[in-house]
Amino acid sequence: MGNIISLLNHKGGVGKTTSAINIGAGLVELGRKVLLIDLDPQANLTLSLGIPRQKITIYECVRGESELVPYTVKQGLDVITSSLDLSGAEMELINEAGREYILRELFEPVLEEYDFIIIDCPPSLGLLTLNALTCSNYVYIPLQTEFLALQGLTKIKQVIDKVRFRLNKKLSIGGVIATMYDSRKVLNRDVVGTIRKYFGSKVFDTYIRDNVALAEAPAQRQDIFAYSANSHGAKDYLSLCREIIERTEKVEEGVASR
Ligand SMILES: Nc1ncnc2c1ncn2[C@@H]1O[C@H](COP(=O)(O)OP(=O)(O)OP(=O)(O)O)[C@@H](O)[C@H]1O
Ligand SMILES: [Mg+2]
Repeated sequence: MGNIISLLNHKGGVGKTTSAINIGAGLVELGRKVLLIDLDPQANLTLSLGIPRQKITIYECVRGESELVPYTVKQGLDVITSSLDLSGAEMELINEAGREYILRELFEPVLEEYDFIIIDCPPSLGLLTLNALTCSNYVYIPLQTEFLALQGLTKIKQVIDKVRFRLNKKLSIGGVIATMYDSRKVLNRDVVGTIRKYFGSKVFDTYIRDNVALAEAPAQRQDIFAYSANSHGAKDYLSLCREIIERTEKVEEGVASR
């Protein structure tokens, strides 16, 4: 069965969308089949990959008007797009019975088709994010290696614990991704040290370096491997993907041998 990973941090601009796109594309480079879910009304993931406006987006799906209709970006990489309409969903679904389980039900029919489903969460901890956590096995937390990186993390941990307790026993923090890292900056090195102290081995060994190609690729509507395969960004995300595969396979082997 596919691994479902939510990229979550309610702080804005820490690299959730950049990581969702390039982890997705990196896993495809390594031969895996991936479905990306754009769960953010800003639709940055959809726009960054140059996907034209779709008739069926995640909004129509969470409203119960359609099943998932994936858009194929390239072989192995499918996307469920988003649009600004999604910003109304939290209010519209508030009185719905089983409102935290909407995504889980939507994913059920496609689970077998993909090795990884990766959800790009909005920068908030509302109902959409709760839905993402209710259907995920893992949360990955991207942290920008800057001042105040850890601010607000207690809140994320509380939400994860609550979801695990009430809605989804399988949920765990599967990894912490240090983003926009510049080893020349003392502050960045210090912050990474603090992140490691706080999260220990959850922190991936690969740090995503601050790399201009990662910021340029969306303007060309491309992932980093299509835009600049030799960039630091491509190398870092590929190395991160190798770690992700290793971690998830270790867990699967553990489950199989139980
Ligand atoms: N490693 C990196 N090096 C350089 N620029 C980066 C890197 N990662 C992300 N960026 C840039 O930083 C900005 C914020 O990144 P991104 O959109 O991925 O963050 P986000 O957490 O998804 O933001 P939001 O909370 O608004 O959804 C973008 O302009 C992106 O291109
Ligand atoms: Mg984003």
